[in-house]
Amino acid sequence: MKIARQKATTLLSLLLIFLMSCKEEPAHYDDAAIVDEQQTTDWLAYGRTHNERRFFPADQINTQNVAGLKPDWFVELPTDVGLVSTPLVVDGVLYFTGTMNVIRAVDALNGNPIWEYDPKVGEVVKGKHQIGWVHNRGITFYEGKIFTGTWDGRLIALDAKTGQEIWNVRTFSEDSALYITGAPKAFKGKVLIGNGGTENGPTRGWVAAYDADTGAEAWRFYIVPGNPADGFENDAMKMAAATWTGEWWKHGGGGNTWHGLTYDAELDQLYIGTGNGSPWNRKIRSPEGGDNLFLCSVVALDPDTGAYKWHYQTTPGESWDFNSNMDIILADLTLEGKPVKALLHAPKNGFFYVINRETGKLISAEPFVETTWATHVDKATGRPVEVEGARYEEGRAVLTPGAWGGHSWHAMSYNPETGLAYVPALHQAFTYSDEGIELANWQAVPFYGGMGVNLSNPDREPRNYPASLIGWDPVKQEKVWSIPQNITPNAGTLTTAGDLLFQGRADGWLLAYDARTGAELWSYDTGLGIAAPPISYTLNGKQYIALLVGWGGGYAGMGGEMAYSYGWSYRTHSRRLIAFSLDGKAELPPVPPPNYPKPIVDADFEIDAELAEQGAMLYGLCSSCHGLNLFSGGMAPDLRASVIPLDFATFASVVRDGAKADLGMPPRPEFTDEQLKALQHFIRRGAAAFAGRYDAFIEEIKAGKSKERTGGFSH
Ligand code: HEC
Repeated sequence: MKIARQKATTLLSLLLIFLMSCKEEPAHYDDAAIVDEQQTTDWLAYGRTHNERRFFPADQINTQNVAGLKPDWFVELPTDVGLVSTPLVVDGVLYFTGTMNVIRAVDALNGNPIWEYDPKVGEVVKGKHQIGWVHNRGITFYEGKIFTGTWDGRLIALDAKTGQEIWNVRTFSEDSALYITGAPKAFKGKVLIGNGGTENGPTRGWVAAYDADTGAEAWRFYIVPGNPADGFENDAMKMAAATWTGEWWKHGGGGNTWHGLTYDAELDQLYIGTGNGSPWNRKIRSPEGGDNLFLCSVVALDPDTGAYKWHYQTTPGESWDFNSNMDIILADLTLEGKPVKALLHAPKNGFFYVINRETGKLISAEPFVETTWATHVDKATGRPVEVEGARYEEGRAVLTPGAWGGHSWHAMSYNPETGLAYVPALHQAFTYSDEGIELANWQAVPFYGGMGVNLSNPDREPRNYPASLIGWDPVKQEKVWSIPQNITPNAGTLTTAGDLLFQGRADGWLLAYDARTGAELWSYDTGLGIAAPPISYTLNGKQYIALLVGWGGGYAGMGGEMAYSYGWSYRTHSRRLIAFSLDGKAELPPVPPPNYPKPIVDADFEIDAELAEQGAMLYGLCSSCHGLNLFSGGMAPDLRASVIPLDFATFASVVRDGAKADLGMPPRPEFTDEQLKALQHFIRRGAAAFAGRYDAFIEEIKAGKSKERTGGFSH
């Protein structure tokens, strides 16, 4: 009896060792594995597979049972701020990137920590000029390695098993006015990365591919041409230069690719979604007009050499920040009875594009939001037909979409079973003009940047409602359903073979919808704004839905009053990673209620109007984190409510000397005492002004919150 039991134990332990060794043995995840749409276990790439569809083909969780979805496990992330990234799941391990590019690997069964890697971004940016973002949208996995791009411009390869650094290369110098927030794209033994920073100075965008094993640069593709006197890098740049006028190279040109990298394994080509102009205003960067290739385009490249194959430009001669950096999804459609290899793209300019990815030719383009800047896209020419005055040539132009775009980086998904694409859409008008700007002599200063557009009299009012979730039929090019949303920007989407669509909201709700009809089937209040898209995976036969809960991203930093009104103030609410399942039993600790920092009024401080005005100009360097017009959305402290600006020496130690650089506060070593004083006066003026209407403002917010979740508008 005893022996039998021993034998059984030995057998069991042998089996265990065998199973463990199976898990230890890293699977060979090559491009064929990453492109496999059928596997129902892992989430191997940013958009799950190389096709970037964010479609999970399991239906264990489905329209019939999703109402029973509950938290299964969670991880508290108290040191994180903005969380916007898509986790990866490989062989039972969940990997994700958090604030300041810290990467963690946890057991996908229970969230237990496996390893953590901190690239110490704070130390690198200390004492440097740095602007940019503390958030990051994702990492990439390829053949046993995890790749990440950091805020300060490093591309790093880690051993997926241990988190040990394998190699680490600089993609731009520490002193460049650029940043990386995007996920690298790994394919065919290479890793591709671009960068952002079009508004931070005169910049010339590029993408570069690095050897996945060594980090050696394999090739580089510039998005806009340089000075012709220096010679062109390739024929594509020569071709592009013919579409520019004046001395564009003095302004960099822009085109920075901070998002939108897709590898097409079937056709063996890369697609990059390119950025807007540097500066935005074409009258400055290309005064005699021109399309300005390859701004705001989908460009197809040879994955081995980076050579140009074809392009489609969504916004010729862009002048509105209508970049085309949004997701590029590969879909096989049937059009007029014929199979077509298509790509789906819904960029900022508000048109939904279906492009033949074999030829680069436009198949169709229809507006998915109100597009007051152009009436339609002409099928024959493939060009948008602009309305008169859209280029603010006759003074102010109030346009939708505005610079937030009809859709930004918040993930679109595509479900081949419903045939629908799901777009987290935005509806916000912007007022554009160049009144008061001396166009001929305008020049961006590195790190101080600018757009060459006057947005100081903004009509940023939402049109009826600020956001919506749209189920879009790319074959018919029409909206099948849409859900107006009273809060923005809502997060990216996930769709599954259970006919489900998941999306988190800026007000903290995670919802599941019927992917065919848009009917709401399940909702869960996470207690903190959501900016990241959910993913799904199956482990030990159980399907999970997982996501990062942690309000963040550009809007959280710059959204001003609206972002402030959500109450996700800096470091008040602990960030979390939550995994849900049908038999989940996790009890999440309660979260604090929304919090609205109250301005400090210093009655003894005499505000000097002139200094405060100078401070307002300088505050342009701070608003991307501390919030437009001093209304913090929670990415950094609300300076009106902080004691630090009250004391000059302490203020200088933080702003000039970098006392909080490790915590994501980039110092300004060049600031003079006079400039710091000007900022103090500006902050005190803002505090005094807001104090006068604080109580009424908060009451209004609370009344607004009690309204229905959706705007209740029909569409
Ligand atoms: C990239 C984002 C970012 C930018 C740009 C930025 N800050 Fe900050 N700042 C932060 C963060 C994050 C903190 C909080 C660090 C901590 O204590 O956790 C902070 C903290 C501060 C504090 C201390 C507040 C307190 O109560 O702890 C002051 C003052 C400040 N910043 C002023 C400025 C000024 C002035 C500018 C523009 C010249 C600026 N910051 C630009 C992110 C930023």
